[in-house]
Amino acid sequence: MKKTITKTSILTALLLAVVVLALTPTMQSCKKDNNNTSATATLYDSLGGTTMVSDPSHSGTMIEKGRLGIRSVVDSTIFVIAADTALNGHFTVLLSEVTAGNTSGLTALSNNLTDFFCYATGAQHFTYTGKSMTAAHDPAQNSRMNGKADNHDFDVFVADLVQALIKWAFPAS
Ligand code: HEM
Repeated sequence: MKKTITKTSILTALLLAVVVLALTPTMQSCKKDNNNTSATATLYDSLGGTTMVSDPSHSGTMIEKGRLGIRSVVDSTIFVIAADTALNGHFTVLLSEVTAGNTSGLTALSNNLTDFFCYATGAQHFTYTGKSMTAAHDPAQNSRMNGKADNHDFDVFVADLVQALIKWAFPAS
């Protein structure tokens, strides 16, 4: 039961992050407020926070439990989007790279999205240094973005994220 609560927390955290930060067009990078002495638990804490665990993707490496949970859902979301014909037309650069065996862009996207959601949920040790949401999704400013996104695309993105979370939380279903 505790596991279910944690996964529900991840969904809440990611959706909250989407609502609060994804629509903040001027966000260029984010810095933490070092003067914040509040002991209030963050959403990141509720995901396992800074507790160090083995990284299943990198043998012999440790990772914060909060980041591991977020990265897992991010990677799952990327795969759901890649298979979603309603959205994958925007990701032609990434998909053609991966098809050709080049995963550098995929790794960079996974890292950026993971940083984005870590920061958004209150992680202390990670910040987002990628493009602003406006720049990342404007084909004129990001050659990796194929065509402009509209409101429907963002709804599909969130639906894919929820689908990824459900797949991750209940892998057998
Ligand atoms: C609210 C939801 C979304 C969030 C939080 C989000 C966040 C991000 C972030 C953090 C990046 C990386 C920016 C960088 O490289 O510096 C990115 C890249 C990108 N996003 Fe989004 N995004 C969202 C929705 C969408 C939608 C709806 C689309 C498509 C219609 C989209 C298409 C892309 C593409 C094509 C890239 C570049 C991928 C690549 O590097 O190959 N995103 N997004």
